[in-house]
Amino acid sequence: MSRRITGFTPSGELHLGNYFGAIKPLVDQQVPDRSIVFVSDLHALTLEHDPAEVRRRTLEFATVLLAAGADPARSIFLVQSHVPEHTELHYLLESATGYGEVRRMIQFKEKSRDSDRVRVSLLTYPVLMAADILLYHAGEVPVGADQRQHVELARDIATRFNAAYGPVFTVPHMVNPPVAARIMDLSRPTAKMSKSTSSGGTLRLLDSPDTLRRTVMRAVTDPGSAIEYDPGNRPGIANLLTILAACTGEDPVDAATRFSGYAQLKHAVADAVIATTDPIRHHYAELSHDPESVRKILRDGVIRARLIASDTVSAAKQAIGLLPA
Ligand code: TYM
Repeated sequence: MSRRITGFTPSGELHLGNYFGAIKPLVDQQVPDRSIVFVSDLHALTLEHDPAEVRRRTLEFATVLLAAGADPARSIFLVQSHVPEHTELHYLLESATGYGEVRRMIQFKEKSRDSDRVRVSLLTYPVLMAADILLYHAGEVPVGADQRQHVELARDIATRFNAAYGPVFTVPHMVNPPVAARIMDLSRPTAKMSKSTSSGGTLRLLDSPDTLRRTVMRAVTDPGSAIEYDPGNRPGIANLLTILAACTGEDPVDAATRFSGYAQLKHAVADAVIATTDPIRHHYAELSHDPESVRKILRDGVIRARLIASDTVSAAKQAIGLLPA
């Protein structure tokens, strides 16, 4: 069985899209030494950032991921910057990647559009993401739909490197959840739910039940009153049905038949979201009293991760033409 890996960048706060897009798919299938979950703190340096805030969020993200079910007994759990092989492999892979390939990334275009101080790391971070994946020979990458282009780049780099220098890397593929690969913002159902927007349409995993219910009840719906799953024409209702279906495990088309009005649907969505996030909030409250035990788990993860990562970097260095020390 091949390894599975997924990462979370500590900017903003983790939300229901992160949970259904990547956290749940990973934690539902943890297999000892085959599953890797990490906080991608280096990726948080690609945009203007507050150093203290990144440090605080890194521990917060690690704690939320543990609270949401990441199990250090079954997954290797780490902070990216604690494993220096990520950046070491990043450079080697940059030397096997074309400028045009990274310049085309949609996220680079979107995030650089309104800034006149674009960091070089924003351009090259998809290559770092490829390093994150290839370092551990991960065959499967459970992520939301927004990461498609990045996982494809990792595939292209692995394939090209293997062809040019020898078979060093496993070629990964993306795994999307059956529903909820792209949860939309409740205030703007044509935009994806995101950690960084302040639109009021994000359902954060640590929000109180009252806040979650208020956010759902205020969700933008569509003209008319029909309750049907039609993302193209009725994106607001389709998003609510998607969230409900992801929480309850049913099909969004079937779920639509149970409701006769928007208020009834919204109450059901709020109940389902609160029931899904309640255990995470409670577990988080316990764990956050003992940050030292979270840091100990992260230190153990680094040791286990480096056993795999250092072998991969040695093989890549040897293949690309560097003289061993
Ligand atoms: P990030 O931190 O933006 O998002 C973490 C995960 O959540 C998924 N996601 C969503 N899924 C469904 N609906 C949404 N609205 C939604 N928003 C986010 C993302 O697709 C992602 O899976 N670059 C990555 C982190 C990363 C990574 C990696 C992931 C770094 N290295 C290696 C996998 C493998 C990122 O910033 O994700």
